[in-house]
Amino acid sequence: MLLTTVYYATKLRTIAPQASRDYKLSMRVHIRHTSYAIQSPSMQQKSNLPLFQAHPILVQKLPYQPLGTLPTPVQKLEALSTHLGHHHLYIKRDDLSGPLYGGNKVRKLEFIFGEALAKGFKEVVTLGAIGSHHVLATSIYARELGLTPYAHHFPQPISQHVLNNLLALSSTHPSLTLVGHPVELPFHQFKKQLMGWLQARQKTYYIKGGGSSLAGIFGYVNAALELQQQIEEGLLPCPDEIYVAAGTNGTLAGLILGAKMAKLSSKIIGVRVVDRVVTNSANVLALANAASATLNNYGVPAPLITLKDFDLLHNHFGKAYGQPTHEGDEASALLMGHESLKLDPTYTAKTFSAVVKRARQIDDAKTILYWHTLNGIDLSERIQNADYTRDLPEEYHTFFEDRA
Ligand SMILES: Cc1ncc(COP(=O)(O)O)c(C=O)c1O
Repeated sequence: MLLTTVYYATKLRTIAPQASRDYKLSMRVHIRHTSYAIQSPSMQQKSNLPLFQAHPILVQKLPYQPLGTLPTPVQKLEALSTHLGHHHLYIKRDDLSGPLYGGNKVRKLEFIFGEALAKGFKEVVTLGAIGSHHVLATSIYARELGLTPYAHHFPQPISQHVLNNLLALSSTHPSLTLVGHPVELPFHQFKKQLMGWLQARQKTYYIKGGGSSLAGIFGYVNAALELQQQIEEGLLPCPDEIYVAAGTNGTLAGLILGAKMAKLSSKIIGVRVVDRVVTNSANVLALANAASATLNNYGVPAPLITLKDFDLLHNHFGKAYGQPTHEGDEASALLMGHESLKLDPTYTAKTFSAVVKRARQIDDAKTILYWHTLNGIDLSERIQNADYTRDLPEEYHTFFEDRA
């Protein structure tokens, strides 16, 4: 609770003026529901959600725990548009999706934690690379809700961004298991170990990697309906193309399904940033159609998703997961230089490089929306106060020492 207050105080001093009113509002709401952490959300909180507004029957069917600061703003990238000579370039600011941590994980966690709490779980476990945004977001918000976070980690290329995520993670004191170090395990073996661990812990709620469990996808179905409302309010024209990073695919799958339910004419384009074995069209279709089938079971007419409903770009991935690309570095420099917005090399720089390339080619009359999925909340206080020798298991120390 104290931590929450300190973060808000810092946040309120540093946020952009146009967002400040929203944050002050959300602060009140947030502090209220962290004080009564495990209480059910009010009807009012639920009915603010575009998904529940469009399909009220889902209020009874989909457990939901508000965490975020929604709707997230949409903005025109004026300065960058001028620079690129493409004048209809917009951004959806999911970097501001939550008060303690933003990015795409918050929307997923609202439905995931909703389900975990509704089923009475007190512990959650998830998995990811050591710099995983998902593990970090899960751990931060689990603590806020009084849930104990566990994570199974695997190594990835070390960068300052990865180390900062680990330091921020250590501030939430999760129970961590490093699997596959020092010799990397094949992923199926990693998964087998995790499942063995889980079998012995019936009381722990399992969250799929990246938060791309069925419940998590509804966060992005809702996000597409939120965008539809913003289009109707005149905040942006209906985009011709929407670009989003695709890793474990839940964000992309939810957006595709939600956009089709909202009858948006936009083409949804995922940019692959993880290996093909995880990020591929078959997996995207499976997730989107599992969510669609669930909605149909709940009495909400939801369409079948086919390959015609989206594109998945493979040519921005570069050599490996987590390895920066030249185009990604250029895209990062452009967004920072013209709009003062930060990208990370693993997910968003690669995705934005696809946007930059397209903006240079496409007819100027077409509208492009970049869906920004990286956390934009300042973590520097958490990072500065962290001490890896004190707060992380010994086998993690080598990541910091090797780099030093
Ligand atoms: C910043 C960021 N963007 C995008 C993604 C990809 O989202 P998804 O796993 O839902 O495909 C991730 C996944 O971890 C992420 O951390």
